[in-house]
Amino acid sequence: MIKLGIIGLGKFGTNILNTYKQLERKGICKLVAICDINEKVLDEQVKKYKTKGYTDYKEMLEKEEFDGIAIATPDPFHKEPVIYCANKKIHVFVEKPLDVTIDGCIEMIEVCKKNNVLLQVDFHKRFDPFHQTIRKDIEQGKIGRIEYGSVHMEDKIIVPRDWFPNWADKSSPVWFLGVHFFDLIRWFLKSNGKKVFAKGIKNKLKLLGINTFDAVKAIVEFENGAIISFELSWILPENFESIVNQGFKLVGEKGIIECDSQDRGTRVCYESVGVMTYNSAFINEVEKFGEIFYSGYGIESIEDFVYNIKYLKEGYKIDDLKNWISAFGQDGLEATKIAVAVHRSIESKKEEEI
Ligand SMILES: NC(=O)c1ccc[n+]([C@@H]2O[C@H](COP(=O)([O-])OP(=O)(O)OC[C@H]3O[C@@H](n4cnc5c(N)ncnc54)[C@H](O)[C@@H]3O)[C@@H](O)[C@H]2O)c1
Repeated sequence: MIKLGIIGLGKFGTNILNTYKQLERKGICKLVAICDINEKVLDEQVKKYKTKGYTDYKEMLEKEEFDGIAIATPDPFHKEPVIYCANKKIHVFVEKPLDVTIDGCIEMIEVCKKNNVLLQVDFHKRFDPFHQTIRKDIEQGKIGRIEYGSVHMEDKIIVPRDWFPNWADKSSPVWFLGVHFFDLIRWFLKSNGKKVFAKGIKNKLKLLGINTFDAVKAIVEFENGAIISFELSWILPENFESIVNQGFKLVGEKGIIECDSQDRGTRVCYESVGVMTYNSAFINEVEKFGEIFYSGYGIESIEDFVYNIKYLKEGYKIDDLKNWISAFGQDGLEATKIAVAVHRSIESKKEEEI
């Protein structure tokens, strides 16, 4: 039985809770204990998910036994618990971004390597079946050498303003959204970022007292020569058709790929909310005998960590997993390198090396 825990039980930690509880029902794992520094959040989750709770992750790791821990604390607070877990020989699953500094990512990778533990990053866009088909097409050479492309990922303003106003100023549309697509494009191209030129704008959120970028535009040159532009923002109006607007276009010497990663073809209009489009491929809920069952690529990415631990327990090595879909420490580092260089370019007003 795989013994699991979670540190950080907010919005995304709840998705991890639901996933682990679902795997527990299937007899695959046991949710041993959970942790959040916020007592109110912790109490609610402990009651709802009927498990042990701690406000101090160090105490939790001293008192309980785990094979794997998921970390869903705010962006700048992943590193410390990752390193603490790794030194206790516990595999770790980290919400994106791995860390907001390059040194932080490298330290995590080194400590996990030294302790022979898995360091997995939740870049769930790799688990989107539409993206997987595109990757296969690219691998089979259907589009030829990719020359240029564009990506957009834009959240409604409620995300930074209402979901986590207490730490939105420590993040940005680049950290919160951009890293998802930096990783996805790297995964498609099998190539790392080389150079970037970026511009950012601070206006709407700053006026609301949240000192971070509204939007960032970045042009990234990859090592294989592909030039991809990224348009990242989190100020779409509240009545926009979905929580996120996202997609990309890639053009190669033999073809073009266009993907709307949000609107999967369902459009509704209700008097109560107006026009809406859905991405049920992300997280879908259905009820059976009073229990909710979760599916979708957002869930599969979390489950994947548990299955990877299962393989390791069966005798596979961490290196055996490296050609699988999962994103690991090095992938987290490469996405962070692009994000850091984007911010550096905004500051310097020059093209920056990644
Ligand atoms: N994979 C995705 O698509 C996705 C989506 C949203 C958020 N995220 C990422 O998940 C992480 C969490 O985001 P969120 O939206 O759930 O934030 P949130 O603010 O809703 O939740 C974070 C929780 O962590 C707790 N916390 C902070 N420091 C802690 C510590 N030292 N020990 C224990 N608990 C601690 C907070 O009390 C809070 O309850 C972020 O890194 C974010 O970027 C990922």
